Amino acid sequence: MTDAAPPPIRAAIVGTGAIAHAHAQAIADLAPRIALVAVADVDPARAREFADRFATSAAVHPSLGALLAAESVDLVHVCTPPQTHVPLAIESLRAGVPVLVEKPTALSLAEMDELVAVSRETGVPALTVFQHRFGAAAQRLIRLRNGGTLGRPLVATCETLWYRPAEYFDVPWRGRWEVEGGGPTMGHGIHQFDLLLAVLGPWRRLSAFAARQALPTDTEDVSMAVVEFDNGALATVVNSLVSPHETSRLRFDFEHATVEVVHLYGYSDADWTFTPAPGHEHLAAAWDADDSDEISSHRLQIAAIIDAFAAGAEPAVGVDDARRTLEFAAATYASAFRGITVGAGDIVDPDPFLFRMDGGAVPWPPLKEAS
Ligand SMILES: NC(=O)c1ccc[n+]([C@@H]2O[C@H](COP(=O)([O-])OP(=O)(O)OC[C@H]3O[C@@H](n4cnc5c(N)ncnc54)[C@H](O)[C@@H]3O)[C@@H](O)[C@H]2O)c1
Repeated sequence: MTDAAPPPIRAAIVGTGAIAHAHAQAIADLAPRIALVAVADVDPARAREFADRFATSAAVHPSLGALLAAESVDLVHVCTPPQTHVPLAIESLRAGVPVLVEKPTALSLAEMDELVAVSRETGVPALTVFQHRFGAAAQRLIRLRNGGTLGRPLVATCETLWYRPAEYFDVPWRGRWEVEGGGPTMGHGIHQFDLLLAVLGPWRRLSAFAARQALPTDTEDVSMAVVEFDNGALATVVNSLVSPHETSRLRFDFEHATVEVVHLYGYSDADWTFTPAPGHEHLAAAWDADDSDEISSHRLQIAAIIDAFAAGAEPAVGVDDARRTLEFAAATYASAFRGITVGAGDIVDPDPFLFRMDGGAVPWPPLKEAS
C-alpha cells in the first residue's frame, strides 16, 4: 500500500501587482502540492482579474484581515510594497499563519526586530523571498564551500549593475525612503549580496559610499561597499540603477577554485563558470556533477519551502538570515552617510540607522518628498 499524497498547502496572496504573478505561476507549476485558495488587494478589480487569470476558484478579499477572517490558509505570500510588509506579516503570524514576504523584508532593522519578536513569540515562521539562493548552482556552491572542498574563501566581487529610466520612479512608492526603504541597495542589489552572505557567512565590517548620480529619487541610485568577513575573506559590493549595460555578477575566489556567475534576473547552470586552481583540476568533476538548466526563481524557493514543511524542517529564508542581509544594507547606508567603517552589530538603539535606512543623514535634498 502507498501513502496517500498530503493535501495541498492552502496558499493566499496579498498584493496582486507585478511580482504576485511570479508567485501565482510558481504555485500553479507546483500543483498539486500547493494551491492558491485566496487573494487580497486594496484594488478589488485588480484582485478579481488576478484570480480569474490564475485560480478561478480563489476567494477575493479587499484586505488581508478580511481574508484571514474568512479563509483557512497555510501560507500567506506578501507581495505588496515594502512599507506594508511587516504590518501584514505580523497580522498573518498573529492569526497563526506562516508568511513568505517579498524583499526587502522590512523598512528598517527596528521594524525587522518587531517581526523577529512576533515570529518567536507565536512560533510561526516569517520567511523572505531571496529566490537566487535556491538555484542548483548556488545550492551546490554553498554545499562545496561548507564541506571545505573549495578551501578558504579569499576574495569576492558582487555586482548588480542595472538600469532604470526616470519613468520607473513615477510609481509613487518607488525611490522614497519611507516607503521603499532605500534605492538599489534595498530593492535590487539585495538579492546578489544576500547570496554573497549565504555563501561567505557572517560579515565583520564594511566601508561604503553612496550617491544619487542621475535618477529623480530621494534615495541613492548607486552604492558601493568594501567588506571583510569573519573568515577573513574580502569582497566588494556594487549596487547601481544607472548602468545601461545591465549585468548581475558574483565571483568567488577560493583557495582551490574561482566560481563565477554572470546573469541578469535569474541564472541557470549555464551562467556559471568553475575554474580550478593549478593542482586542483579534479574539483571540476564535483562542480559538474548535477547540472541543472532550471532558472533560479520563485518556483525553486517555494518548492524548498513545501519540502521543509513536509519534512518538519525549518524553511528558508528565515528571520535570522534575512536580518543579517538587512543589517548589511543598513550598515552600507550608515557607513556611506557618516564616512566611517561600520561593524556587524554596531547599529543599536538609539542609532537613527536602526530606525530608518537614511538615518536622517542623507547628504542630498529630497526630490519626491518635496513634490
Ligand atoms: N523577488 C523579486 O525578484 C522581486 C521582483 C520585483 C519586486 N519585488 C518586490 O515585490 C514587492 C511588490 O512589488 P511589485 O512591483 O509587485 O508592486 P506593485 O505595485 O506592482 O503591486 C503591489 C500591489 O499591492 C497592492 N497593495 C498595496 N498595499 C496593500 C495592502 N495593504 N493590502 C493589500 N494589497 C495592497 C497594490 O494595490 C498592488 O496591487 C516589493 O517589495 C518589491 O520589492 C520582488
